[in-house]
Amino acid sequence: MKIVFTLAEIRKTVDSWRAAGERLALVPTMGCLHPGHLALMRAARRQADKVIVSIFVNPMQFGPGEDFDAYPRQFADDCRLAAEQGVAAVFNPGADEMYGPFFQTRVSVAHLSQGMCGTGRPGHFDGVATVVSKLFQLTTPHLAVFGEKDLQQLAIIRQLVRDLNFPVEIIGHPIVRDPDGLAMSSRNRYLSAEDRQRALCLYQSIGVARALVSENQQAVTASRILAAVTETLARSGVDAEYAVVVNQHSLEPEEVIGPDSVLALAARITRTVRLIDNGRLIDEE
Ligand code: PAF
Repeated sequence: MKIVFTLAEIRKTVDSWRAAGERLALVPTMGCLHPGHLALMRAARRQADKVIVSIFVNPMQFGPGEDFDAYPRQFADDCRLAAEQGVAAVFNPGADEMYGPFFQTRVSVAHLSQGMCGTGRPGHFDGVATVVSKLFQLTTPHLAVFGEKDLQQLAIIRQLVRDLNFPVEIIGHPIVRDPDGLAMSSRNRYLSAEDRQRALCLYQSIGVARALVSENQQAVTASRILAAVTETLARSGVDAEYAVVVNQHSLEPEEVIGPDSVLALAARITRTVRLIDNGRLIDEE
């Protein structure tokens, strides 16, 4: 597996693979890889000859007072894990290499970046859209795989690809959960056993919502679901940031539950750990 630190070398690497007719996949990450990331790599591997994993803790997507400095970093372990999944290259540029001096450009997916996580993290999605655009330019993948846990991020990236005509197929990968139901996240490692127990209220809320829908899909409304979810979150004592029922593509609120309705949640579990989760309210056919 190649480990690449510079923009010039990643360009040279992908150019040579493309010239040889290889199909390329990108799995963008911020490192601290967990089994959820590894599942994205395996999905990428099934559809491409060469998988590139970017490991870049992107300063542009962290706001003041967020956990950029404390974000977990474990580069040697990450490289070992990526190699075990058959990844062809890890791309790990430094922030100066990635952005260079006087970097001024922002990619902003205006409407989809409003609301939900965009409310509590202003500027976050501009940072994501900018770095993902750069990663697409640098690695020229045929496809890229993103986790569905980041529902809003995925909708934004799909829109970005349409709007800017990136020739990249975007693949959403289902949320990977621990056996207790907690969605995998690099930030879970900061949770004590007790915090983790409280964090389960996110997954439990999805269960509560799905149970209401399966009892009577025609009659149950988003307002009714959100009342039950708010109660579940309040009982657990977490600091809920938002709970919404939205269309998974447009992220518009939905009062009547349909096949694309998703319950999306964010909560601060501790002062420093904020988690998100989501789940469809009706199973796919
Ligand atoms: O989901 C993430 O880990 C990040 O937002 C991403 C897509 C790698 C961009 O920095």
